[in-house]
Amino acid sequence: MKAAIISLGSVSSKWTFEAMKKYFESVDDIDLRDLEVDIGGKKHIVLCKGKKMKEYDCVYLKGSFRYLQILNAVASALSSKTYMPIEPSAFTKGHDKLLTHLALQEINIPMPETFISANPSSAKLLLEKLSYPIVMKFPSGTQGKGVMFADSYISAASMLDALSALNQPVIIQKYIETGGKDIRAIVVGDKVVAAMQRQAVEGEKRANIHAGGKGSKITLDYKSKDLAIRTAKTLGASICAVDILRNSGGCKVIEVNLSPGLQGITEATGVDVAGKIAEYMYEAANKFKGGAVIMSDRLAKAAGMTSSAKTIVTNIKTNRNKIVLPEIVTDISGFDNDDEVLVTAEKNCIVISKSNSVRK
Ligand SMILES: Nc1ncnc2c1ncn2[C@@H]1O[C@H](COP(=O)(O)OP(=O)(O)O)[C@@H](O)[C@H]1O
Ligand SMILES: [Mg+2]
Repeated sequence: MKAAIISLGSVSSKWTFEAMKKYFESVDDIDLRDLEVDIGGKKHIVLCKGKKMKEYDCVYLKGSFRYLQILNAVASALSSKTYMPIEPSAFTKGHDKLLTHLALQEINIPMPETFISANPSSAKLLLEKLSYPIVMKFPSGTQGKGVMFADSYISAASMLDALSALNQPVIIQKYIETGGKDIRAIVVGDKVVAAMQRQAVEGEKRANIHAGGKGSKITLDYKSKDLAIRTAKTLGASICAVDILRNSGGCKVIEVNLSPGLQGITEATGVDVAGKIAEYMYEAANKFKGGAVIMSDRLAKAAGMTSSAKTIVTNIKTNRNKIVLPEIVTDISGFDNDDEVLVTAEKNCIVISKSNSVRK
């Protein structure tokens, strides 16, 4: 299994690259800025430093909203043949808070009441009707940089004047009082692998780590986890961070981050998030290939087997409450009908070995 991480080379991407090396046969670390996509012919061709890019079984594509076009082009060029944890359509939606909002609204994900106006004058009419404070956001801001708070109509209107000079669309959102706290849940596949509460510094409303927020580990209840997982699924992002505001009124999703920083969450929770991401991608890429047999010395050794052991990724099937293993397992093990075997089972683990070849 050959993999690549295509990114802007952040520390988080380096961590993920290192973790991927523990699972995949080979991993390439590619800078998104070295890529071009030839979209002239029928097929899109991805070029890396001017040459046709190698083919991979798994590509983890990441980057900021500034690279949206190239992200979209690379993702759609690769998606039919390559496993990618972020679907092509997710880049457009996930890098724009308004499009995220519209997508999540379709499946009734709770979010703060949000408005968008065609121009500053209609936005001002809207501002007259709101109760304060309110939040104004650039749809594609990150790390808290494009988020502003206004305590009154007067300050909101003057902010809007300044922003309209920048010719940037702004979304206006109801302020959710949480005492400067938010929740960041990291979704990997259909699990929340790590979650932290972030507390904004004194005098600051944004809880982002980049804005000085302090993260601490939290255990999410089933409902909040389910919210984060459904959010990620709707956007088509198997790996992402979901930001949630929680108060007595319940939980509200404010943002999905397709390229979350890993340092803060790893430090706060002690979870090896990069490792979880790499492990998940390895399994998912195998499933994408149709459950192909894979051989990995490292995995075999980790399970206490010889390096000729093969690992397959599959789902458990039962028939009348008896576990039925895939045919390939029969082929690999060479077990025959009526062979005497030792079955050792404990929660989440089964080892089956021929009674005359018990491993030490
Ligand atoms: N509607 C809101 N009410 C209260 N606080 C908010 C609201 N929206 C955002 N915030 C605060 O601002 C921070 C940044 O907002 P977010 O939408 O996640 O944008 P960014 O992409 O910049 O992280 C959040 O983590 C939260 O602390
Ligand atoms: Mg955020």
